[in-house]
Amino acid sequence: MQVAVFNTKPYDRQFLTAANQTHRHELTFLEPRLNRATSLLAHGFPAVCVFINDVLDRPTLEVLKAGGTQFIATRSAGFNHIDLKTAAELDFAVVRVPAYSPYAVADHTVGLMLSLNRKIHRAYNRVREGNFSIEGLMGFDLHSATVGVVGTGKIGALVAKALHGMGCRLLGFDPYPNPDCLALGMDYLPLPELLRQSDIVTLHCPLTPESHHLIGEETIAHLKPGAMLINTSRGALIDTQAAIDGLKSGQIGYLGLDVYEQEEALFFENLSEEVIADDVFQRLLTFPNVLITSHQAFFTRNALINIAETTLANLTDLAAGRPCPNAIAAR
Ligand code: NAI
Repeated sequence: MQVAVFNTKPYDRQFLTAANQTHRHELTFLEPRLNRATSLLAHGFPAVCVFINDVLDRPTLEVLKAGGTQFIATRSAGFNHIDLKTAAELDFAVVRVPAYSPYAVADHTVGLMLSLNRKIHRAYNRVREGNFSIEGLMGFDLHSATVGVVGTGKIGALVAKALHGMGCRLLGFDPYPNPDCLALGMDYLPLPELLRQSDIVTLHCPLTPESHHLIGEETIAHLKPGAMLINTSRGALIDTQAAIDGLKSGQIGYLGLDVYEQEEALFFENLSEEVIADDVFQRLLTFPNVLITSHQAFFTRNALINIAETTLANLTDLAAGRPCPNAIAAR
């Protein structure tokens, strides 16, 4: 099948080309992100392949439809960048990669916790500058710390398992308690109670209209003063301005982010020669107790192999007219 592959970086092309040795689709790699302005590039392609910062809203989908596109394959688990209602209305089939490496995201989450707690990001700079003082770098033992996991699906459960191994007490908030987490001794509590008891709160639920700004002024007030907040899920789970206020008051003691509400304008690009116009993001960077990575939690070799293989297998199913197990909208 002819596929317009949007928003590709060299690593995407490398792994998709390798996986395509067996699938033999006609892949046309495009650098631009898919949005209304670039949607004409897909004209005549039966399928488009996209990533999380592409914008598949109604205007974009209408152009795709008019150009003959029928299939949308996202190289991600999350699909909040696709207007599924309109996609169904316009008779698109939409497929995704439901799990490519929950381990990758769980590892990165624990990495952020450890780095923030033991201030490894600051120690790295000090030692390179010949400053061997350890003043200001004091952390706390993770053993016996209470960790609240919000969203205990695949990634949340792996984070819980790792932290259980380190001796943490586990709390959970999820409408569907996970038996694997219950087996680790996790106590499920209402969100305000989890926030009140946790030394560390880590977010692993999807972004939906219900979870938008789940952590905002009101919920931050429930946190244990000085608690650590980690988000490797989706940026808009946290109201960033409220988090900045929480950092200024000390209510949030540490903030670790791999995702950010307005990340579309920043993440995945090298902007080191440019002026960053996002004042909210720039304010976040001024705090010594904030550690931000640019949506790299998924970024392991293993994950990229799985993403490429599953995406192309999804397209093979669609081309053959077979039902695809990874469909989120069928034609
Ligand atoms: P999953 O579907 O296995 O688990 C999500 C869990 O969240 C489910 O148990 C669900 O019941 C629960 N949930 C739904 N709404 C909730 C709410 N309002 N409050 C509390 N819990 C709620 O998903 P998985 O694979 O664990 O991924 C979690 C999230 O991680 C994804 O939605 C995605 O946004 C993010 N992600 C981030 C990546 C990164 O590179 N930073 C890479 C992959 C995923």
